[in-house]
Amino acid sequence: MTWSAEAVDELKLAPTMEGVLPAIHRRWSPRAFDKHDVAAGDLTRLFEAARWAPSSYNEQPWRFLVGHRGTATHQKIVSSLIPFNQLWAAQAPVLILGTAKTHFSHDGSENIYAFYDLGAATALLTVQAAALGLATHQMGGFDHEAARHALEIPDDFLIGSVTALGYLGDPATLANERMIAQEVAPRTRRPLSEIVLSAWGEPARLG
Ligand SMILES: Cc1cc2nc3c(=O)[nH]c(=O)nc-3n(C[C@H](O)[C@H](O)[C@H](O)COP(=O)(O)O)c2cc1C
Repeated sequence: MTWSAEAVDELKLAPTMEGVLPAIHRRWSPRAFDKHDVAAGDLTRLFEAARWAPSSYNEQPWRFLVGHRGTATHQKIVSSLIPFNQLWAAQAPVLILGTAKTHFSHDGSENIYAFYDLGAATALLTVQAAALGLATHQMGGFDHEAARHALEIPDDFLIGSVTALGYLGDPATLANERMIAQEVAPRTRRPLSEIVLSAWGEPARLG
């Protein structure tokens, strides 16, 4: 069966629960990206959403490197990806590398929440992207030290994830059948009873 981008997007919608933000239901991580560049102004909106994330001591430890397809930064990020991720992520019009400053600015002490804060900012970015009709796919599959070297990232910044950004493409544009099968597979999540507890091992009653 041949899937259109629209049909896959429909299939991947999380089951709707009244009152949950539509963009949260709509966000998923595709590998097939359309060639179109991100609409003017939307990149600013995404980083504005990330910028307003909470962070320990309001340090805002995150720094994002943005590479547009055809630029050296995009190419350097692609080169650091593991071969599997290169197969699909190279087509994304924008690649974002998230980093986090390891020490607080106010007293130089170690910020053990830097990575946590980067994750929070990235989560807001992905939800804002979904609200704008954009697709995101985060990746941990890359050589951190190769990225650090190629992009001249200072040692006092942790390297987080790479996020592919763009518009959803047709699954048929993917490199192989396995990837197409994963693209159209239903999404799964652990039940709330497993992840929300009132005591260890005891599901919380949420009402
Ligand atoms: C930190 C992180 C690292 C990930 N690394 C990869 C990766 O290297 N390659 C990949 O194809 N997907 C990667 N993913 C995507 C996850 O597999 C995906 O988010 C998960 O299966 C849930 O699917 P959903 O985002 O569509 O809900 C990563 C996601 C996160 C948050």
